[in-house]
Amino acid sequence: MVPISPSLRLSAALRAAVAVLHEVATPTPECCNLLARAFPADVSERDTKTWNFENNNFWSATEIRNPTCVFLPDSTEKVAEAVTLFVQHKWRFAVKGGGHSAIPQAANIDGGVLMPMHRLNSTAIDFERGALRVGTGVLMGDIYAALDPHNLTAMIGRYEKVGMGLAMGAGFSYLVNREGLAIDNILDYEVVLADGSVVNANAGSNSDLFRALKGGNNNFGVVTHVTLATVQTEGAIYGGVVYYPESSLPHVTDQIYDHHTRQAIVDTSTHVLPQYGYNGTTNETISFCPIIYNRAVDELPEVLRGWIGTSYTKSSLKKRQYHDLSVELNAGFPDGLVQEQRVFSAYADANLYRDVWAAYHQWLQKYQHIPGLYGLHVNMPITPHVIVRGSANGGNSLGLQSAGNRTLGALYFGITLDNMSDAPEVLPAHGEFVRSMENLAKSRGLWHPYIMLTYSGYDQPAIASYGPENVAFLRKAQEKYNPDHVFQRLVPGGQKPPSLH
Ligand SMILES: Cc1cc2nc3c(=O)[nH]c(=O)nc-3n(C[C@H](O)[C@H](O)[C@H](O)COP(=O)(O)OP(=O)(O)OC[C@H]3O[C@@H](n4cnc5c(N)ncnc54)[C@H](O)[C@@H]3O)c2cc1C
Ligand SMILES: *[C@@H]1O[C@H](CO)[C@@H](O)[C@H](O)[C@H]1NC(C)=O
Ligand SMILES: *[C@@H]1O[C@H](CO)[C@@H](O)[C@H](O)[C@H]1NC(C)=O
Ligand SMILES: *[C@@H]1O[C@H](CO)[C@@H](O)[C@H](O)[C@H]1NC(C)=O
Ligand SMILES: *[C@@H]1O[C@H](CO)[C@@H](O)[C@H](O)[C@H]1NC(C)=O
Ligand SMILES: *[C@@H]1O[C@H](CO)[C@@H](O)[C@H](O)[C@H]1NC(C)=O
Ligand SMILES: *[C@@H]1O[C@H](CO)[C@@H](O)[C@H](O)[C@H]1NC(C)=O
Repeated sequence: MVPISPSLRLSAALRAAVAVLHEVATPTPECCNLLARAFPADVSERDTKTWNFENNNFWSATEIRNPTCVFLPDSTEKVAEAVTLFVQHKWRFAVKGGGHSAIPQAANIDGGVLMPMHRLNSTAIDFERGALRVGTGVLMGDIYAALDPHNLTAMIGRYEKVGMGLAMGAGFSYLVNREGLAIDNILDYEVVLADGSVVNANAGSNSDLFRALKGGNNNFGVVTHVTLATVQTEGAIYGGVVYYPESSLPHVTDQIYDHHTRQAIVDTSTHVLPQYGYNGTTNETISFCPIIYNRAVDELPEVLRGWIGTSYTKSSLKKRQYHDLSVELNAGFPDGLVQEQRVFSAYADANLYRDVWAAYHQWLQKYQHIPGLYGLHVNMPITPHVIVRGSANGGNSLGLQSAGNRTLGALYFGITLDNMSDAPEVLPAHGEFVRSMENLAKSRGLWHPYIMLTYSGYDQPAIASYGPENVAFLRKAQEKYNPDHVFQRLVPGGQKPPSLH
C-alpha cells in the first residue's frame, strides 16, 4: 500500500465530481487476480517492480497514485478483451499514453486498473499512401526516429517523451503553421469501444466517431492504433534553442507578437515556441525559444532573423533532424516534479501579450519562497491557416472556426514545485490568477472561449469550451458509441464532456 499524500486533497473538487459517478465497484485484489488469470503475463500487483515503475513513470508527481494493479496489453485483442471484462465487472481503469498530462488521475487511478499502452509500440510506414501507423504506446521520439531516416515526418508533438494522448486532444507540431494541428493530420483511429468491439474511424467509415475523437480525449474508447499522414522533408531542418537574458525579454515579447501575426503567416515553414521561465530560487527570468525553419537551410531565413536581433546567451541552432531536436527540447522538462498547467486563448495583441507576462511575473514573485518554484509562460499561435487546415481535413470538434480570420494565441501557464505539501498554497491561487488574465482579455474584447485540452488544468472546462454545437455533436456521438457512458463512469480521469446526457 502506498500512502497518498494528504496534499492530494488539492484535487478535492475533481474527486467529488468523480465520486458522483461511482456506483461502480473499485477493483479489489481479487478482481486483479481474475484479470491476471485472463492475462497471466500482463498483470502486476501492487508493490511489484513493474507496478512501482509504471506508477511512477509520469511527468508530473500529481499523477503518481495508487492503482490496484497494472495491466500491460501488447495487442488490440487484449485491450478489447480487457475492456469487456472491465465493463462486465464494473471495474474502473485509467488509460496511459506517454504520461505527460498533469491533471491528477488523467492517466492513472486510485483503486482501479492502470493500463499503460507502451507495449503497443509498433511503427509501420506505408510509403505509397504517405502514412505511418503507430501503436498508441509510442512516444514522439519513436515517431521521429522511425521517419527521419526516410526524409519523412509526421505532424504530432515536439518533445521526445510526450505520448499519443495529444492525438485525441489537439497537438502542436513543428509543422503546425503549415499543416495544421496533429488531430487534423490523422487518417485513421483504431478504437476499442465500450462493447469490446474494435472499429476504425476515418473519413469514410464511422466518420462521426472520427470527428469526435479529434478533441474528445479518452471519452469514446481506448485508441489502440493511429494512422498519421506523413510529409516529405528536405532531409534536414535548421533549428535549436536560443536563450535570452532578462534584459532581452521586451524584444522577445515583440517577436512573439510579430511571429503570431506575420512570420507564421507569410512563411509557414517557420516554427517558434517562445518560453519565459521564472526561477523562484534566483528570482530570475530567462527566455528560451526553440526556433525552427522546417527546410534544409544553413542559417535562419530573413523572416526569423528578428529572433537573433537582440543579445542572447546561448544558442543550439544548427542543421539537424527532428529526433535530435525532440531530445534536446525534452531535456529541459524532467519527470517527477509537481506540475500544474493551465491555458486559455486570446486574439493576438501586442499589449495583451506584454501585460499578461508582466502580471504573471509579479504574481510569481509572491511565491518565491516556495521550494523549487518555477513558472513557465508560453504563447503559441493558432493562425487562420491552421484552422482552415482543420476544416479542409474533415473537421474536428474544437470549434475554432469562430476565431474568424485572426490569429489566436494559446496562452499557457505552468507551475512547478518540489513538494506536494506546497500545492494547496500555490495551485488554487494559480487558478485564480489565470482566471484574472482571462478577465483581462475579456475586458479588452480579446478573449476566445477555446481551452486547449492538452494544456488544460483539471478544473478548466476544456470540452465545454468547444461550444454548444460541438458539445451537442459529441453528446450524439456518445449516445451512439458509448451509450452507457462507460468511458466516463469507469474511466473517470482527464477531461470529460460537460454532461453525461
Ligand atoms: C514536456 C512537455 C512537452 C509537451 N509538448 C507538446 C507539444 O510539443 N505539442 C503538443 O501539442 N502538446 C505538448 N504537450 C502537451 C501534451 O500534448 C499533453 O500533455 C498530452 O496529454 C500528452 O499525452 P500523453 O499520452 O503523454 O499523456 P497521458 O497523460 O498518458 O494521456 C493524456 C490523456 O489522454 C488519454 N489517452 C492517452 N492515450 C490514450 C489512448 N490510447 N486512448 C484513449 N485515451 C488515451 C489519457 O487517458 C489521458 O486522459 C507537452 C507536455 C509536456 C509536459
Ligand atoms: C515494445 O513492445 C514490445 C512488444 O510488445 C515490448 O517487448 C517492449 O518492451 C515494448 N517497448 C517498450 C518501451 O515498452
Ligand atoms: C534524404 O535527403 C538527403 C538530402 O537531400 C539525401 O542526401 C538523402 O539521400 C535522402 N535520403 C532518402 C532516404 O531519401
Ligand atoms: C533555479 O535556480 C537554481 C539555483 O541556481 C538552480 O539550482 C535550479 O536548477 C533552477 N531551476 C530551474 C528549473 O532551472
Ligand atoms: C525580484 O526581481 C525583481 C525584478 O525582476 C525585483 O523587482 C524584485 O525586487 C526582486 N525580488 C527580490 C526579493 O529580490
Ligand atoms: C521540500 O523540498 C525541499 C527541497 O527542495 C526539501 O529540503 C524539504 O524538506 C521539502 N519539504 C517538505 C515539507 O517536504
Ligand atoms: C484572411 O487574412 C489574410 C491576410 O491577413 C487574407 O490574405 C485572406 O484573404 C483573409 N481570408 C479571409 C477569408 O478573409
